[in-house]
Amino acid sequence: MSGSKSANRGSSRPPENGTSPRGRYWRLLALSLGSGAVFAVLFYLWGRELFPRAAGRWGGTFPFVGAVALTLAVALFLSEWFGFAGREVRKVRLAARDFFFLCSLALLLFFAAKAVIDLLAEIPAPGQGVPTRVYAYLIPLPAFAMVVRVLINSETSILFTVAASVLSAAAASGSWPALLFLLLSGTAGAARARRVPDRYRMLMAGVQTAPVCAIAAAALEFSFHGGGGVMWAGIFGAVNGLLSGPIALAVMPVAESAFGYASDIRLMELSGTGHPLLSRLMMETPGTFHHSVVVGTLAEAGALAIGANPVLCRVAALYHDIGKLGKAQYFSENQAGAANVHDAMSPGLSCTVILSHVKEGVRMAGEFRLGDRITEIIAQHHGTSLLYCFLDKARPMIQDRKASEEMFRYPGPKPKTREAAIVMLADAAEASVRSLDHPTPREVDETVTGIVNRVYLDGQLNECDLTLRDLHAVGRAISQVLAAIAHGRVDYPETGKGGV
Ligand SMILES: [Fe+2]
Ligand SMILES: [Fe+2]
Repeated sequence: MSGSKSANRGSSRPPENGTSPRGRYWRLLALSLGSGAVFAVLFYLWGRELFPRAAGRWGGTFPFVGAVALTLAVALFLSEWFGFAGREVRKVRLAARDFFFLCSLALLLFFAAKAVIDLLAEIPAPGQGVPTRVYAYLIPLPAFAMVVRVLINSETSILFTVAASVLSAAAASGSWPALLFLLLSGTAGAARARRVPDRYRMLMAGVQTAPVCAIAAAALEFSFHGGGGVMWAGIFGAVNGLLSGPIALAVMPVAESAFGYASDIRLMELSGTGHPLLSRLMMETPGTFHHSVVVGTLAEAGALAIGANPVLCRVAALYHDIGKLGKAQYFSENQAGAANVHDAMSPGLSCTVILSHVKEGVRMAGEFRLGDRITEIIAQHHGTSLLYCFLDKARPMIQDRKASEEMFRYPGPKPKTREAAIVMLADAAEASVRSLDHPTPREVDETVTGIVNRVYLDGQLNECDLTLRDLHAVGRAISQVLAAIAHGRVDYPETGKGGV
């Protein structure tokens, strides 16, 4: 277990596994070179405008020479920047998908910046008397930084803000006020997009960013250029902040669809029982549906206790057992007094059916495009834990217990994030307490503590960021909610004959 709490309490990001440091380095270098080349094409298009001195010196050859030089410079910058962060900041171990996403956003921002500055400069009506440089305060970096924070995490949004500020400041002829404004406004936007479970909160994040952008723009304009364009700078800064919410809301669904991300807004949409998977779960496997709802409530309470993402925990818990669809009768929560089908099956066959629900769940999550965060939790919600009941049943037939244990283990992986670990604990605790007959709060507490200890000692939490303090707080929160649920099951006295 990690000894320190993670800096980002909102969303977690699993470390990239299965890639050697050397392999990661070469992949990052290749990605950086590719991205650098794309950026260079853009710079090529505006090369003479952005680098008039170089164009004059190199004449007609500048576009070619300049493009090669810029490719190297941008690639070096990206690989050093993200390479260093990836090594030293655990949550910035970006997958290739994240890198492409960030570069796409940076390119889009560059285009947007050029479009804003060039188009507005051409329009005479509002542009009259407004210095052209002031249009740089409309570059929509706050919106893009908000998108990165919501879809990836806060650490990456800071890195993106710095890298995108440097690259897109070129669109404003590399002026210092523009660069400083971009750095400041991007950070302000990302900082205010902490928890965004709905569109209103995203719009409000933009509204809260607006005064910061307005003051920053006016102050920078005044300090670098005097009082001429201060009012326009302030207005443009405020407009930039106000528009950041709507722009982020427009960009996010496209990014989610193209890159497979799932924002909290998307998660909230998935939590409605109108989703075909939840409808099927409710109709075909009511026991599993009820179990999932209770696990969602427990996981949400556990997440709130330690500052993890409660929306992710609740929604992922709703879907964690969708792999049971189609084979409901094999799972105890759906048997409800009927004969246990496993009595007539060999332990090995029973185990195969039970284990398959994780793989099937991951497949269905992909088919219904639930997004990477839910899919990862489905894959990790049992970790590599052991199916004790079937192992015990098979014990008389087993020669080598240690070797046989592997057959009765879930394939994993173990939980990589705090949210996945919380869902695992809530799932195991709910199943154990459900098997108790009229438990007292003390019995519930002892059962949950036993489950938490067993999961920890089995090494299932070795790969996530849960501290011992977190573990204790999560166990206590789950225990309190389960005790309240158990206490609520009041036995009414049977009415006698003729009773109503
Ligand atoms: Fe499960
Ligand atoms: Fe479950």
